Amino acid sequence: MDQKIKELADFMKSSRNTVVMTGAGMDTESNIPDFRSKSGIWRKVDPAKVAHIDTLYKNYDLFREFYCSRITKLYNIKPHPGHYVLADLQDKGYIQSIATQNVSGLHAMAGSKNIYELHGNIRDIKCDYCNQPGTINQILKKKNCSNCGRKALRPEIVLFGEPLPAITWRDATEDIKNSELLIVIGTSLEVYPVNQFPYMTKGKTVYINLEDVKDYDFDLKIMGRAGEILIKLKEILL
Ligand code: APR
Repeated sequence: MDQKIKELADFMKSSRNTVVMTGAGMDTESNIPDFRSKSGIWRKVDPAKVAHIDTLYKNYDLFREFYCSRITKLYNIKPHPGHYVLADLQDKGYIQSIATQNVSGLHAMAGSKNIYELHGNIRDIKCDYCNQPGTINQILKKKNCSNCGRKALRPEIVLFGEPLPAITWRDATEDIKNSELLIVIGTSLEVYPVNQFPYMTKGKTVYINLEDVKDYDFDLKIMGRAGEILIKLKEILL
């Protein structure tokens, strides 16, 4: 693995425009379960039943129960060393931007800039009916929207069946199309359209993940834990 991390460091040294793309595997070392590995959330709960826009309308109580448990679990989470390494590498000019599928906000907490939250974030609450902002307290206390009174408070994350935030998508794809190096960390690449990113860059592509992935032709694959690999990468570069 060390030889491959050295190869990644060489790629980063010669790239003038590196973009990092992350998924739930970037957060598991902060004790946030991912979705599709053995202990993943979707192994226990069917996303179509709880994380789909239809559920918000057809079974709001089930929707709210699932997301209140997610919000509670994500309440006092902290970045792990790997998040801080990405922020340090960005400070030193090795990384331009981070396109993340994660809603935890851990990249920003670690000090990263130019973050594209492609699936939104779980911290911000709004009313799905009248768009009035709400608070985490309101939804945890099972309150209705204070503006229109409807049972429609929800986190500002992208549910299955919803489009991605258009400007975020536009800016992230722009960065990736112009990148000389795309580093993909901790994602199964199962979810469209973010799983198209590796095909969008003309530059080199690197995959850092616990499990391998098919149907992609990465220039370099480093199998292992993101935190451990990023710490070794920092030792070489900084
Ligand atoms: N280091 C490296 N890879 C890891 C680690 C780790 N510490 N922990 C887990 N992984 C890997 C898993 O092996 C898995 O391949 O991260 C990947 C996570 O894949 P998923 O659980 O499918 O998560 P993700 O790809 O981010 O899912 C995409 O699906 O449910 C939706 O909106 C949700 O954003 C999410 C999207």
